[in-house]
Amino acid sequence: MMEDFADVTALSEFMATREGISPIERLLNEFEAHEAKEDHALEFYKKTLAHMPSPLTRFLLQLIVSDEEKHRAVVHAMVSTLKGSLTWTRPPDSLENTGAVTGSTRELLDVTDELIRLEKDGITEYKTLVKASSGYYRGVFKILLDSMIRDSEKHVELLEFLKQNLKDA
Ligand SMILES: [Fe+2]
Ligand SMILES: [Fe+2]
Repeated sequence: MMEDFADVTALSEFMATREGISPIERLLNEFEAHEAKEDHALEFYKKTLAHMPSPLTRFLLQLIVSDEEKHRAVVHAMVSTLKGSLTWTRPPDSLENTGAVTGSTRELLDVTDELIRLEKDGITEYKTLVKASSGYYRGVFKILLDSMIRDSEKHVELLEFLKQNLKDA
């Protein structure tokens, strides 16, 4: 009789652990909460943008909107990946879904070094342009060029990751 009771306790403890939230689930919740905030900000930018009389203001807000739309896609992909891990599946948009290696995969691998070089050249050119255009238009060119430098640095990082990833595939 006592043994049965102990078994029930062990079982309910086991169930509690099972029902307790796993690290991946917790991460998923955090990403989903963040996703909601991003959506809120995006809607705000879009609404504001529509009423701005100045082309400069509209242009700059539109840049932010485009970035936020990208952020949305990125967070969405990460959420899909986490959901895939939780359900032991690989949804089509999961970042764990590697797909088959085809001719196009190898073609991309062949040109990654060239693309990385182009991005790095671009960074050097943007830096020259920053100097050449400093002092014009209240510094807006500098802000825009600096942001393109950061984009190119990001592209280099992405390409280097892709290169390694394609090699390992
Ligand atoms: Fe964002
Ligand atoms: Fe680029």
